[in-house]
Amino acid sequence: MKDGRFLTLGIETSCDETAISVVADGREVLSNVISSQIEIFKNYGGVVPEIASRHHLENINGVLETSLADAGVTLDDIDLIGVTMGPGLVGALLMGVSTAKAISFAKDKPLVGVHHLNGHISANYIQHPELEPPFMALITSGGHTEIVQVEDYNRMTVLGGTRDDAVGECYDKVARVLGLGYPGGPKIDKVAKEGDPEAVHFKRVFLEKDSLDFSFSGLKTAVLNYLNSERQAGREINRADVAASFQQAVLDVIVRKAMDACETRNEDRLVLAGGVAANSRLRAMLDEECCKRGIRLYYPEPILCTDNGAMIACAAYYKYMKEGADDLSMDAYPFLELD
Ligand code: KG4
Ligand code: ZN
Repeated sequence: MKDGRFLTLGIETSCDETAISVVADGREVLSNVISSQIEIFKNYGGVVPEIASRHHLENINGVLETSLADAGVTLDDIDLIGVTMGPGLVGALLMGVSTAKAISFAKDKPLVGVHHLNGHISANYIQHPELEPPFMALITSGGHTEIVQVEDYNRMTVLGGTRDDAVGECYDKVARVLGLGYPGGPKIDKVAKEGDPEAVHFKRVFLEKDSLDFSFSGLKTAVLNYLNSERQAGREINRADVAASFQQAVLDVIVRKAMDACETRNEDRLVLAGGVAANSRLRAMLDEECCKRGIRLYYPEPILCTDNGAMIACAAYYKYMKEGADDLSMDAYPFLELD
């Protein structure tokens, strides 16, 4: 406690960001330190799990110190430690979980393990102080694409998910074949603004009628095949047109399914979460479609869309308030269901 406020330390290391944040009373961010390994993985074109773990180990103490200093607090002021326990890369997750357990044990502070996707959803509680469940959520990140009915802070039902690649993964792979670099999402977002989304027609994959599942691996292959055949024919490739056309094919499907989910379940609030939620075209399309249907749309500012410790602190706060603390047997779970 400091100045009568409940302080949560949020630790996130599930992929390639070492991120630690201090959040007051569940929703007010006092510090948000994110040490990204993007520069390292640019050379590899993607995340190498063993290297990611090593960098978390090297960075985590410094990130913790900076985060506490930025918030103007010490570990003694902290009331709760929240950490991502899964899903994610197991070695990377273990760095955060071990650090959280060590602090909890040494300082005798309660500990809570958080589902990474509940963290992404919770970024919206920080951004929109009036937002409370229930609502519909669309989670689009590097590892996940899910439509989730959020009944309460810790109670949710997954209505649909990807059967193969996640949407962010698909953006990253297509960016790589277009030679745009890593991570591909922000690059495609930018380049696509200069392109024509109708220049190349890529098939929209809606799967069975009424299904809220997704499949993006065919689209990735379709882009690759298109590029190969154009190159073989000796035609010059317009990267902006391909990026815009690919993006439109992904977003047409995601937006339609999110609208279907809201309409069939009479939900008039939609929450967007995860790294791809930072995408400007996705936001614009959802803004328009939600407006037509009287659905209120929520999304976080870009820095809270991608991985950060503040969203984990927020999710941990609500889990602790409703269910109490976890004990030190809490572990890292690379495959963890949301419901
Ligand atoms: O949520 P996140 O930080 O990590 C996971 O939990 O996976 O999401 C990272 C993903 C990457 O695939 C990245 O390319 C994508 O989010 N991304 C974007 C944008 N910014 C990040 N995708 C499309 N447009 C963006 N502006
Ligand atoms: Zn994430």
